[in-house]
Amino acid sequence: MLKSRFFTYSAGAIISSSLLLTGCANTSIPSNANSPEGVVQEEVEQSNQTTSNVIKSDEIQNIFFSEEHITISPESNYLLVLYSLLTDQTEIQVFPEDIIYEIQPSNLAVIEDNGLLTLSNDAVTGNTFDVVATYEGFSTQLTITVKYNLEDTIIIGGSEIPQITNQESIAVLVNKQRSLKDEYVPTDLVQPNIPFSFAGESEKKWLREEAARALEQLFEKADQENIQLNGVSGYRSYLTQKSIFNWNVQEQGEEQARRYSAFPGTSEHQTGLAIDVSSPSVNNVLHESLGSTKEGQWLAKHAAEFGFIIRYPQDKEHITGYAYEPWHIRYVGKEIAAEIMGQNSTLEEYFNESTPVSTR
Ligand code: DAL
Ligand code: ZN
Repeated sequence: MLKSRFFTYSAGAIISSSLLLTGCANTSIPSNANSPEGVVQEEVEQSNQTTSNVIKSDEIQNIFFSEEHITISPESNYLLVLYSLLTDQTEIQVFPEDIIYEIQPSNLAVIEDNGLLTLSNDAVTGNTFDVVATYEGFSTQLTITVKYNLEDTIIIGGSEIPQITNQESIAVLVNKQRSLKDEYVPTDLVQPNIPFSFAGESEKKWLREEAARALEQLFEKADQENIQLNGVSGYRSYLTQKSIFNWNVQEQGEEQARRYSAFPGTSEHQTGLAIDVSSPSVNNVLHESLGSTKEGQWLAKHAAEFGFIIRYPQDKEHITGYAYEPWHIRYVGKEIAAEIMGQNSTLEEYFNESTPVSTR
């Protein structure tokens, strides 16, 4: 049974709403008129004109969101707007309080009676969840991906390269255009329990805790499959990177050095989320040849299962800014890793495909 209610809709009051309205012809709005049982009284506002229509409940053919999949940034709001398609092909907006919403999984967002969806603090870049709307016996689904906007996570000015503001994010993008603060040191560095190519204490044995635990699982799986891997170089402070970079420039010249070595402040190693790994089968060297060994191929095939990506793949230098490094793996979490590795893609491409719609 359809109800009749007063419904005020202010297009654009919520910054993301315009996106949902796009492409919906003949959009109309339920009103507060007293209508008979089983019908809905609605107003159609177009070109400052208001027309009243009476819609019977059995005229509903379907319900739909205007998008099946949207991307929104962490901690943002999004106004859900649902439409019903009538048998005469008219599309009308459904009054939000008449819709039953279900979020799967339920911890990532809440939806208020007016249809305003707010992401929870648990929702981080890479998460995807579904909103199922049910109205008058019809159901439809909207898939929401959480992804931060590149432009929202930098400060321009001060230094030559824009500085990132989301250095703690597991999905942080650090590259030649996005620098860390020189003094940035992650607060949760630990030493993973894996074999290393060298003995003794070193910051290069450290990783951020989540990445370290995932790396232990990756190495355990490799070991079970008789694949021998060693950690070679994990966390590097700004100063360590500075001396490595300067040494490479001295040895190879700046142009060649920059193809493999990050300018201090722009290395992922400073995030504590990246580690170079190799194998005794190639004397633990960091060389392209690792990519064609059984260990290098195993790593490329299984890294994503544990949340890692091959950060600088072959033939992507024009995108990542670095030559092929089959040894440099980066922790991004399982969801992002599956998408990137499944599509032979890169972290840069993952973010550039994003369609930012709202933020606060
Ligand atoms: N080899 C990578 C690009 C680094 O120096 O961080
Ligand atoms: Zn590396």
